[in-house]
Amino acid sequence: MPQLTRLRGFQDQIGPSAEALSYVESAFRSIVELHGFREIRIPILERVELYQRSSGETSDIVEKQMYVFADRDEAETIVALRPEGTPGVVRAYIEAGLDRSDPEQRLYYSGPMFRRERPQKGRYRQFYQFGIEVFGRADAACDAEVILIIDELRRKLGLEFRFEINSIGDGNCRPQFREAVYNFGKAHYDQLCADCKNRLERNPIRLLDCKTDVALMADAPKSADYLCDPCKKHFGQVKDLLKAGGVEYVENPRLVRGLDYYTRTTFEYVGTGLESAQNALGGGGRYDGLVAALGGPDTPAVGLALGIERILLALEAEGATPASPAPLDAFVVDFAGGEAARDLTAAIRRAGFRVDRSFDGRSPKAQFKAADRSGARLAIVIGPDERAAGTVGVKDLHEGGDQETIPVEKIVDDLHRRLG
Ligand code: HAM
Repeated sequence: MPQLTRLRGFQDQIGPSAEALSYVESAFRSIVELHGFREIRIPILERVELYQRSSGETSDIVEKQMYVFADRDEAETIVALRPEGTPGVVRAYIEAGLDRSDPEQRLYYSGPMFRRERPQKGRYRQFYQFGIEVFGRADAACDAEVILIIDELRRKLGLEFRFEINSIGDGNCRPQFREAVYNFGKAHYDQLCADCKNRLERNPIRLLDCKTDVALMADAPKSADYLCDPCKKHFGQVKDLLKAGGVEYVENPRLVRGLDYYTRTTFEYVGTGLESAQNALGGGGRYDGLVAALGGPDTPAVGLALGIERILLALEAEGATPASPAPLDAFVVDFAGGEAARDLTAAIRRAGFRVDRSFDGRSPKAQFKAADRSGARLAIVIGPDERAAGTVGVKDLHEGGDQETIPVEKIVDDLHRRLG
């Protein structure tokens, strides 16, 4: 039979690589919980309109990266695998009535997202995001707090990145900025890449973060020059608060982000040791119009998401890969016939130690080999003599040395002593 393989751009995470993802997730989780965030779990499948109305019809995600198919329900609903978490969180926020009952919410999520991009290192078709979204707060202190949370994560993981920030204004001032970029694009039409020629009529602001026309865009209009007074004040406050919090930032006037819902603050975390195309470790910003665009009341919001695989690649590039959790604490080597080993293993597990044993009556030598292979720190040996005497043998497989014999009822104390 021919072997079946995984799809291109999809990854199996086995043992250490899965544990590394969990390590980053739990570091993030422990920090955001200290800031009062509550968990939200949302579906992986949503109506495609959700993303069309939020991420934006002209975003790369909606134009070319979504996995979309018709559900075979009566209505032939067109569904999409979620390419990002924000739209689903906003939909759920409105659908649960939180916009009315308790509009100020701090939510976090973690899970797989799907984008049908061209796979390469750091860019996958299924990848993991950890995200936070704050609803009901329009003040600059909230933008700053969200950003400061990532600074805590940076310290906790020993992660290095460059933090870039911009403000793209709001419904009041962005039309003028959009027009200025449009006019700039029109004036330089012949020099634009094919993608930008395409974007010019539909979403000219996206010209600014084109990866091809970088040199040309250096002279393009800057959003900061078009901000209305309230947007300018907000941006100034965010920057002051970041300075006060000791966050280093670089203003990047071309940082407009690839999603349509942003207003005012936008930001990105750029991995300093990563190849340029996949160096965004995370990004986010304010999206004060999205709740209303999805049918809720006017509600300000701000959030961000980090790509967990990219964080791990960045840590690897720095030589700071998280250590895999210790393997098993102990492996029971049994040549006493099964029952005594079964009870002993159960008692050790109840005491909170990770322990495995051999089930197939193999020779002590084969069992010691299995114990070594398992990575367990200790072998706990029980044979007919030990069983008769009410003892067990304990051998440190990592440190070597002689096997010690101890009374069976002392095994848990002995494990505590040896393993701390
Ligand atoms: P985003 O910038 O599209 O923002 O994605 C956030 C992060 O997800 C990226 O910076 C990157 O680390 C990771 N990522 C994206 N695509 C891939 C991929 N194909 N393979 C591996 N990692 C990837 C959002 O998704 C917004 N929802 C963030 C947000 C939350 N804004 C407000 N709230």
